[in-house]
Amino acid sequence: MNKIKVMTIFGTRPEAIKMAPLALELASRPEFEALCCVTAQHREMLDSVLNIFKLKPDYDLNIMQPRQTLSAITSKCLLGVEEVLHEAKPDLVLVHGDTSTTFAGALAAFYSHTAVGHVEAGLRTYDKWSPFPEEMNRKMVGAIADLHFCPTVANRDNLARENITKGVFLTGNTVIDALQTTVVKDFTFAEDALNQIDYVNRKVILVTCHRRENYGQPMTNIMTALRRIADAFPQVELIYPVHLSPVVQEAAHKYLDGHPRIHLIAPLAVDEMHNLMARCHLVMTDSGGLQEEAPALGKPVLVLRKETERPEAVAAGTVRLAGVEEEDIFSMASELLSNQAEYDKMAHAVNPYGDGQACSRIADAIAWHFGLRETAPEPFGA
Ligand code: UD1
Ligand code: UDP
Repeated sequence: MNKIKVMTIFGTRPEAIKMAPLALELASRPEFEALCCVTAQHREMLDSVLNIFKLKPDYDLNIMQPRQTLSAITSKCLLGVEEVLHEAKPDLVLVHGDTSTTFAGALAAFYSHTAVGHVEAGLRTYDKWSPFPEEMNRKMVGAIADLHFCPTVANRDNLARENITKGVFLTGNTVIDALQTTVVKDFTFAEDALNQIDYVNRKVILVTCHRRENYGQPMTNIMTALRRIADAFPQVELIYPVHLSPVVQEAAHKYLDGHPRIHLIAPLAVDEMHNLMARCHLVMTDSGGLQEEAPALGKPVLVLRKETERPEAVAAGTVRLAGVEEEDIFSMASELLSNQAEYDKMAHAVNPYGDGQACSRIADAIAWHFGLRETAPEPFGA
């Protein structure tokens, strides 16, 4: 049998977390020759994920620079991936989500006449400036891709509105596959301080914040609100693994240093992060991935953004949009910290984003597309 050569291309932490289980699934199947190319748009944060999933890339473009611009990332990825594709000649390239690596990877594949599959397809806010630049990245990849792997029905409907109906598969999100391998009952954290926290009697708030459209005043508002929350609620322990972006590091340390119950820590390995999430009281974040993971673990989420392309958990009641104004963030968190009934309303496990079988469906869909299977996979939720 001629193997189908499938190359996964990714570069940042969230792409790696969501693509590693798929890369491993493809590698485990005899019908595929699985290749992996990382751009290393992120370096340390990417390597940490590769390490946890024991994934060894075949190509590493190593492009990251401190305070890199969007044009620098995009052009370096485009040129680097072009060379890799010229050498490896895959039958299909898989990109994930909406980063600059995603866009440049898809564009390089298109320029080399290579088929493209888009994992986590169809998310939209319909505001080209928010999230920036992700909304345009995913739209442009949607226009290029031949196969579209949509996590949810709403994502599939978004593509249909853009007249993208061919090669569309409803698969669930691969992040739920990842989550099922990392969360365990008796997890021991590498950092002993995290083992010492009384997760039952303290109210641990897990925070992340990194989005480019939040740079500047919104991030200042968010940090100020977080400090007010810690000041106002003595039972709160705020744990914030700070993204390595110098812009984020500066803002977090400027406003949150020196508080006895605010813990600014280094980015956590993904298994540490998932297990901390499973034990915390509340999540406050502008991250996309956390909006999918926390609901699956029954943890309420306040989203530190004005909109979200992930409305499913909002509809299910586990996620609320807190916005980027200090007063709004403070009052929404205060309500959840002081009103048990309001908290309980949000704290239930929902799984609108997947059932842990997304990678298997995507691999089946690819096999079907290339004529190696008689049937397409059953859609997620069917
Ligand atoms: C990128 C993605 C964003 C995604 C986020 C996940 C784009 C345009 N943005 O944003 O969609 O949500 O990743 O975290 O693709 N840095 C390090 N070490 C690392 C990682 C980053 O030092 O391991 C620093 C570098 O100085 C780098 C900066 O962080 O220049 C910003 O990284 P970059 O990938 O440009 O932007 P993110 O905000 O991480
Ligand atoms: N994450 C992690 N360690 C951290 C912070 C986040 O492993 O210290 C994980 C998190 O669980 C999620 C992903 O990284 O799976 C989210 O990445 P990020 O917030 O950087 O990007 P986004 O999802 O917003 O694109």
